[in-house]
Formats: sequence, structure tokens, C-alpha cells
Amino acid sequence: MITPSGGLVYHARALRGLDLWFPTRRLVSCWLENWLLSCKPEHLIVFGPSAGYLFEPGSFLPAGLKHLTLVEPDPLAKPLFHLRHIRAKWYHPGPQPHVTWHPSSKLLPHTSRRETDFADFLSEASGSNPHKTAVFFSGLLGQLEFHRKSFRRDEFLARKIFATSLKPFSWASLHDLESKALARTERKGLLSLTLKDDPSNRLPFELPAEALQNQTLRIEWLEAQLKSANSAATWIDHGTEWLGPTRAAALWFLNKRQLQVLGFTTSS
Ligand SMILES: C[S@@+](CC[C@H](N)C(=O)[O-])C[C@H]1O[C@@H](n2cnc3c(N)ncnc32)[C@H](O)[C@@H]1O
Repeated sequence: MITPSGGLVYHARALRGLDLWFPTRRLVSCWLENWLLSCKPEHLIVFGPSAGYLFEPGSFLPAGLKHLTLVEPDPLAKPLFHLRHIRAKWYHPGPQPHVTWHPSSKLLPHTSRRETDFADFLSEASGSNPHKTAVFFSGLLGQLEFHRKSFRRDEFLARKIFATSLKPFSWASLHDLESKALARTERKGLLSLTLKDDPSNRLPFELPAEALQNQTLRIEWLEAQLKSANSAATWIDHGTEWLGPTRAAALWFLNKRQLQVLGFTTSS
């Protein structure tokens, strides 16, 4: 029930943060929905969905989806995800997909018992249709550091297995890029600036293209927005640059003091 990246603490935080997370949720839901529109999967496999707090109801259910597979070790996630996403029939009056849960933390290449478990799972789940199957990592890969104790192999080998096993599939990941505990002045400055920059207040939390190229440029951009020259807190790197180019990035105020920067990466 209490895990380093999920469990009770995360559910409590998410319920408290429902309003605060709204702009980020709206933004990342658009990314997920657009990506699903582009790959049109009949089968979607999601790793680490929790209750899908970061997504609007319906985001995981594109038209034409026949099967949704969810890999999530947190037992509380299943009933809450169903309440939030599957029973939200008013969003999707068409036929509901068949939903399968795998309550396991041992399917990722970092934590699996055998080196082949990740590839075997994907190939078994997708049957003879890898081109109709899409795989989404939902806020999990930037949290791996918290699970280091459960790693079963060298991280570089795990990354290689990850990349090789995913070759036949369209895949995408939403993950933490970096994070920071904010000083009060930093938060105030950033909020007012982002809202002022986008008077329509449509998608105020999206980072501009120049901040996507690499972490150095991004932190330079963030520090300028935060006016954080006097802040003692340092950035935490969530070690996700290996996933490939960041296609989009968003600010996520986990709570009033904690800023996460989320990145979205896709296989093509
Ligand atoms: C930060 S939460 C993800 C946020 C979530 N997608 C949302 O929309 O609110 C990370 C999730 O990854 C799950 N997790 C941790 N290790 C995992 C593993 N090895 N395989 C699959 N899920 C895992 C945790 O239980 C947790 O629910």
C-alpha cells in the first residue's frame, strides 16, 4: 500500500491536488490523445497507470480500442482507475474495451526475474499484432530511482533490453525530467509569468521549444522564469534523458512547494 512512487501517499497527494493538477492534466491528456490518434491501436498496454490522476477520463480509450492492459502493482489503483476511467461511459458511448490487469512490478527489464520477461510479456500480450499494439509508460520511468533496491540487473543492460524489446511497437512515455522544492517567491513568479504569457489561459504550463533540446537549456529557461538566483534548493535529475528526444514538456505542481517537469517522448 505504501511504495516509493505510488500507494497511499500518492493517492492522498493526487486527491488533494486535483485542482492544482488541472492545467497539467489537461495538457498531458492532449499529448496522450494525439499520440493515440496517430497510432490508432486496437490494444493499449499501460505501465504504472495508478488511478490515472494525471489524465482526463476517456484519455486512455481512443476510438477503436478493443483491449486495454494495465500493469500496476498498487492494489488500490485498480478500483480507483475503474471509477475514474472505465466507468466514465458518458465519454465513450461505444463498446468498452476488454480490460486486463497485471498487478506486478516484475515485468520491467530493470526488475524482472529473467532478462527475457519484458519482451516475452509484450509479445504474448500483443499476439500476432504488434503493429496494432501501443505501449505507454505513465509517469513511471522517472521514478525508477526510488525502486533501485528492487533492480535485478545493471541499469545499462536494462535500458538495452527496454529498447530492443520495444522495437516492434509504437510506444510513448510521460516521465519526470527534473524536479525542485520551490521557494515561495519562485512559485509566485512562475505562476504569474506563465499565465501572463498565455492570456487565453489555454495551456499555460507547456514549455517552449527551446527548453526541450536538453536539460542544461531547460534548467536555464526554468531558472530565468523562477528568478531563482537566491534559491538554495537544487534540481533533482530524474535520469530519463536516455529515453530519447523530449517532444513536449510541462510544469507539474505536485503540491504548492514542489515542481516536477514532465517530459513526453514517443518512439517515432
Ligand atoms: C507516479 S505514479 C504514476 C502516475 C499515474 N500515471 C497518474 O496518472 O496519476 C507511478 C506508478 O508506477 C507504479 N509502479 C511502480 N513500479 C512499477 C513497476 N515495476 N511496474 C509497473 N508499475 C509500477 C506505482 O505503483 C505508481 O502507481
